[in-house]
Amino acid sequence: MADLPNISIDKDRLWSSLMQMARVGATEKGGNCRLALTDLDKQGRDLFVSWCKQAGLRINIDRMGNIFARREGRDPSLPPIVTGSHLDTQPTGGKFDGVYGVLAGLEVMRTLNDCGFETDAPMEVAVWTNEEGSRFAPAMVASGVFAGVFTEEYAHARRDAEGKTIGDELKRIGYLGDVPCGGRKLGAFFEAHIEQGPILEAEKRTIGVVTGAQGSRWFDVAVNGQDSHAGTTPMARRRDALLGAALMVERVNRIALKHGPGGVGTVGVLRVVPGSRNTVPGVVNFTVDIRHPNADSLASMTEDLHASAAAVAAQQNLEIAVKEIWHSKPITFDVDCVEAVRRAAKSCGFDGLEIVSGAGHDACYVSRVAPTGMIFVPCEGGLSHNEIETATPDDLAAGCNVLLRAMLSRASA
Ligand code: GLV
Ligand code: MN
Ligand code: MN
Repeated sequence: MADLPNISIDKDRLWSSLMQMARVGATEKGGNCRLALTDLDKQGRDLFVSWCKQAGLRINIDRMGNIFARREGRDPSLPPIVTGSHLDTQPTGGKFDGVYGVLAGLEVMRTLNDCGFETDAPMEVAVWTNEEGSRFAPAMVASGVFAGVFTEEYAHARRDAEGKTIGDELKRIGYLGDVPCGGRKLGAFFEAHIEQGPILEAEKRTIGVVTGAQGSRWFDVAVNGQDSHAGTTPMARRRDALLGAALMVERVNRIALKHGPGGVGTVGVLRVVPGSRNTVPGVVNFTVDIRHPNADSLASMTEDLHASAAAVAAQQNLEIAVKEIWHSKPITFDVDCVEAVRRAAKSCGFDGLEIVSGAGHDACYVSRVAPTGMIFVPCEGGLSHNEIETATPDDLAAGCNVLLRAMLSRASA
């Protein structure tokens, strides 16, 4: 690594920016609900853009609403060194998931400004649209378009539960940019994120050097039986779609345990039709999220899911259709970027712990088109996708200093 200036980020400024952003869409229990492309997402984006402009960064918005805030380097012909994450949250999300990676990137830029440090390559902070995938499935859809995994048409046509599309909502909130999404070279991409799991805390380590991420597969499952009278339909004659769904929920859990350690499986959304107290439900729709770090195990979990659906359908006289809507394969990050994070951690006085991400991140898709690495910091109790998700100012600052140094190591010769 070239000689790096002895500079540090401003811990209080980073924390105060996180707390200001957390006021946008604040929830009663201290978390955030800032679903992708809602008015609150627009407010969060506007706040970020205003901070970037104050820091002298140039804003570009692409056709997926991804925001890139650029600090020029000495040589504009060099590909930029990019960092960033997302500002959208889960419905009962926390203050740090995604937001930390965005505001840590901004803090890096502010720090470089403060000491008038010039890099050779330009540096950019990215805000990726709809990372969470909770309003619009699939997750990470806009970084996916950037990486050429999805077409822009496919992404614009994704619908929320009310039938509104990403394309229309981008236009409505004023974030449908005119820059093409992707198709440009990045020198490197680094994403800082809270770990969202318990490993760093348990191991008493401050910095996670992320070597890759596990794969995920998402399914929409439709169970069809028959609506019938709750009082008069004998148990033996029922075609109860909710009973079938309940048996499937238990099967998903069993499949994950069978593929442990490593396998996880979740049913997060369940819709019961007609939803009447005294009618046996004839239709249930539910979602399945299965993950595993190993591609073969993930394939085996998928086979088990299909086999379970067939078995439950036969046993309960139901029809069960399992439709895969997303498959994000396990990935390995770029060896040199991982090393840059490891060394950056060391130069900040930390012995980084190698870790595989359990969550999906925009970095996973970006890694298909640019050398990519990630930095994790601990979160309390390993809890995330929860309003009480929290991390300490010291750990967040440590991760941001590692980000600064990893980026600088790639931004100058
Ligand atoms: C993103 O939050 C994920 O589902 O991993
Ligand atoms: Mn996230
Ligand atoms: Mn998340």
